[in-house]
Amino acid sequence: MKGIILAGGSGSRLYPLTFVTSKQLLPVYDKPMIYYPLSVLMMAKIRDILIISTPTDLPRFKALLGDGSKFGVHLSYAKQDKPEGLAQAFVIGEKFIGKDACALILGDNIFYGSGLVAHLTHSVNRAERHNRSTIYGYYVKDPTRYGVIEIGEHDTPLNIEEKPTHPKSNYCVTGLYFYPSDVVKMAKKVKKSKRGEYEITALNNMYINAKRTHLTLLGRGYSWLDTGTPDALNDASDYVKMIEEHQGIKMMCPEEIAYINKWINKKTLIEIAKSMSKNDYGEHLMNVAKGKILYASSIINEK
Ligand code: DAU
Repeated sequence: MKGIILAGGSGSRLYPLTFVTSKQLLPVYDKPMIYYPLSVLMMAKIRDILIISTPTDLPRFKALLGDGSKFGVHLSYAKQDKPEGLAQAFVIGEKFIGKDACALILGDNIFYGSGLVAHLTHSVNRAERHNRSTIYGYYVKDPTRYGVIEIGEHDTPLNIEEKPTHPKSNYCVTGLYFYPSDVVKMAKKVKKSKRGEYEITALNNMYINAKRTHLTLLGRGYSWLDTGTPDALNDASDYVKMIEEHQGIKMMCPEEIAYINKWINKKTLIEIAKSMSKNDYGEHLMNVAKGKILYASSIINEK
């Protein structure tokens, strides 16, 4: 299974914050935004990851994340010259994907909740073994801003409409998708929409029409945070701060996940922790390495 993080776009809704930096490099409380989607892919046990961004921003992502070895993963990079739609990620990533199944996560999406790993594991199996895609649905107050799912009996997805004026439900599609190995072939069939984008919604509808999509509804126990506006970004930071302070542990640390997954050893984790010059993040990693935080592994290891 391969994974793609799409971290391009102009970030114009966050100007002037994003005049000279990528939105997905902005802080969400104590870590760069891209750490959150990266952690999700790693929790799905995906080690081969492609980061797609703009030609201008790509070097900054490389400087931050390198080849991925500090996280026990292999990172590759590709540019998207213009933000022509989410489905374009699979065409850009054609070589990288090869004959594998592939997940896509948007670089500005934050997921959190107990049971997430089990959902991710099922999604990987479904794509790899059953040739089926998985989309994640989330209840929102204002569905008109999203791709909205029309849901039939037994939570069967019937159709998705992109930013509809009259939404058929309050369930939107989040920015996390799992596809089987024919995803590149399918993505190449997507035509540009009226607004000039290769829409992920068109790709998802192809799988839905072929009855090859599973809808996983993320219920009350989950948080899905959008970071698209200054308010949403601030709320996301507040949310992470609140959870971390309340629980006394950090969430979505790729180094911790790498260690729990046994992709990096204790010595490496301690070296990374020491390199953080005794800040909270480093202290957390040190506590994980010393086995002080036993429950920190639960969200990562749960079945
Ligand atoms: O966040 C979930 C929603 O994401 C879904 O409900 C929608 O169905 C889906 O179309 C998408 O809607 P958005 O309006 O949020 O898409 P947006 O154009 O804002 O792009 C999402 C992120 O992807 C954003 O951080 C910029 C980045 N992006 C976007 C495009 C179009 C790229 O990196 N390249 C692109 O070509």
